[in-house]
This record gives sequence, structure tokens and C-alpha cells, in this order.
Amino acid sequence: MPIGSFVRHVLGVRFSRRLGRQYRAIFVNLDKQAAALSAVIRRDAHVLDIGGGDGEPLNHLLAMRPDLRVTTIDTRLVVGQWIDACYDRQISRFPGTSIAQYIALNKPNPDVILIADVMHHIPPAARYDFLGSLSQILVRVPDLRIVVKDVEPGYPRALLGYWSDLFVTGDKQVNPISRDSLVSLMNNVLGPLHREDTNLFENDLPNYAISFSR
Ligand SMILES: C[S@@+](CC[C@H](N)C(=O)[O-])C[C@H]1O[C@@H](n2cnc3c(N)ncnc32)[C@H](O)[C@@H]1O
Repeated sequence: MPIGSFVRHVLGVRFSRRLGRQYRAIFVNLDKQAAALSAVIRRDAHVLDIGGGDGEPLNHLLAMRPDLRVTTIDTRLVVGQWIDACYDRQISRFPGTSIAQYIALNKPNPDVILIADVMHHIPPAARYDFLGSLSQILVRVPDLRIVVKDVEPGYPRALLGYWSDLFVTGDKQVNPISRDSLVSLMNNVLGPLHREDTNLFENDLPNYAISFSR
């Protein structure tokens, strides 16, 4: 069992969530992340959060943006379990759901797709199919924004995050993705796309968030 799962198992939900917050703060400032994301998400948007995980970062975004509706999906069987109950009205959760499965459900189209700290968990060869499945949504929603948050490799904090993914989360396939590689990949799979950098890289190095649109 990876160290992260073991600690969560031993500490239980309440304490592991508290410890998880402090641990995550080593790698990213969630208030700065939320501010950067908020700047590229239009008012009253429906955000599709792909690979939402425990949903802790959404608490920070929703605290700033009561106008948003967020649908959070994940291939894991639990998603959004750490989103505060006060945001229930704004949140829909789809555990055990891939992008293709979500599209097949014919739910309302999103205005924004958020992919936060997911790309570096997808092996490079699988990233084409992962992003390619977004093309159907791009056809239906021409002014769709795809916002990708990730971590620029080559910095001490990025290396710590890499080791954490490898040894604490236990993801043996973790593979960092730089801003340049991400932009090339997005353009190869879905382009040509317009790129808009947020201020996250300047404010919370080496985290970055880039918004893409047609
Ligand atoms: C490091 S977590 C990030 C969670 C959250 N977005 C955040 O920023 O805290 C990565 C998540 O991506 C999910 N994931 C990986 N591949 C996926 C895929 N193909 N479709 C949907 N979710 C995926 C994993 O199950 C995991 O919950």
C-alpha cells in the first residue's frame, strides 16, 4: 500500500484531511491557484473538472466564485469527497467516469474544462487519447476554454512534488510536463489554439496554469 493511502487509513477522514491540507501547502498555494484560475473563467460558467480527486482546491475557487457551477469527474470511484457541504448546490459529482463516459451521458455542455494536476499522472503516450476525447466538446462549444494547471519541472519544489507522487501517492508512471511541452501537445491534438498564461507561475513558482481556446 502506498504511504499516502496507509496514512489516510490510519488517521481516518478528519485528521488525514487536516494533514493533507498542510502537506499540499508545501507544493501549491491553493488561494493563489484559485485566483489564477478565476481570472480565466467567465462569470456564471459551468466548469467540467476532469480528474477532480478529493476536490480540496475547489473549496478555494468556489469561495471566490459563488456564480460557478462545477461538475467534477474522476475515473476513481470517489470524487470530490473533501468539497465543503456549503458548496453542494454548485457541485455535481461523477465518480468512476472518464471523459468519454461523461460525454455519452449527454449532460449540459461545459463552458470551461479544468484539468488540474492530472496531466503529469497520464503517461505521455496516453495523453493524445486523453486530450483527443475533448475534441467532441470543442466542436459543440466553439468558445470552450480548457484550463490546464500543472507543475514546471526543473525546480526544487517540482522535484519534491515528483518524489511525493512517486513514493507517497505511489504513482510509478508520474511524468512531469513543462509549459512548452503542454502547449505543443495541446496544439498537436486540438489546435490551433490560442494560449493565455495566468499569473500562477509568477506568483507560485513552479506551478502554472494556462488557458486554451480556439
Ligand atoms: C493528483 S490528482 C489531482 C486532483 C485534483 N484535480 C487536484 O488538483 O487536487 C489526479 C487525479 O486525476 C485522476 N485521473 C487520472 N487519469 C484520469 C482520466 N483519464 N480521467 C479522469 N481522471 C483521471 C486521478 O484518478 C486523480 O484523482
